[in-house]
Amino acid sequence: MARGRFITIDGIEGSGKSTQVALLADALRARGGEVTVTREPGGTPAGELIRAIFLDPGISLEAAAELLLVLADRAQHVREKLQVALRAGQVVISDRYCDSTVAYQGYGRGLDLKLIHELNRFVSAGVTPDLTILLDCPPEIALARIKTRATSAARAADRFEREQIDFHQRVREGFRAIAQDEPSRVVLLDSSREPAAISADILRLVIERVGL
Ligand code: TYD
Repeated sequence: MARGRFITIDGIEGSGKSTQVALLADALRARGGEVTVTREPGGTPAGELIRAIFLDPGISLEAAAELLLVLADRAQHVREKLQVALRAGQVVISDRYCDSTVAYQGYGRGLDLKLIHELNRFVSAGVTPDLTILLDCPPEIALARIKTRATSAARAADRFEREQIDFHQRVREGFRAIAQDEPSRVVLLDSSREPAAISADILRLVIERVGL
């Protein structure tokens, strides 16, 4: 059976993930690859509905409910979209995946890390990234970027963007801990640099480590 390649890009809000996901997809398509771009939460019809609840600051959510919602999203995403695309031999790039749950619900909200790892294993059904890029920068820089973005798009801040700086600091520490624990899968990149420099690093890593 054909087996595609799975790349995830993750990091705190405003770390520039979405820009890098788009640039990587363009670069791989230009090299002739068949690329599926997706995101969490979201990526499926059920997931987009879950995402609306998940991000809406007007809907109260306990930390446990937040965790189980994002895991339900992932269970659906893996089976409905990721496995299908990977079996078809595609390159799949996901904007966020399991590492976000460890960083946000584990380090950010303080939920039990062992439980999160077990639940991630259950919902991801063996779909593990070939490469994960973690975009890292101080939350002060990232949050300033979000403010500019939100003002220009005239949209209200979502549930997580409203969190205080110490929450984002804990999430950042979570991502950095993941990179230390799993160096064979995860690479941490400094995302306070120019987008073009970051995208060149990402493409080089993808070619070297994923063999594309
Ligand atoms: P999104 O708009 O995708 O944020 P960004 O543009 O920063 O990527 O919103 C996704 C939010 O959901 C983001 O704040 C992180 C949060 N999240 C979790 O808390 N846990 C998770 O497992 C995932 C996938 C996302």
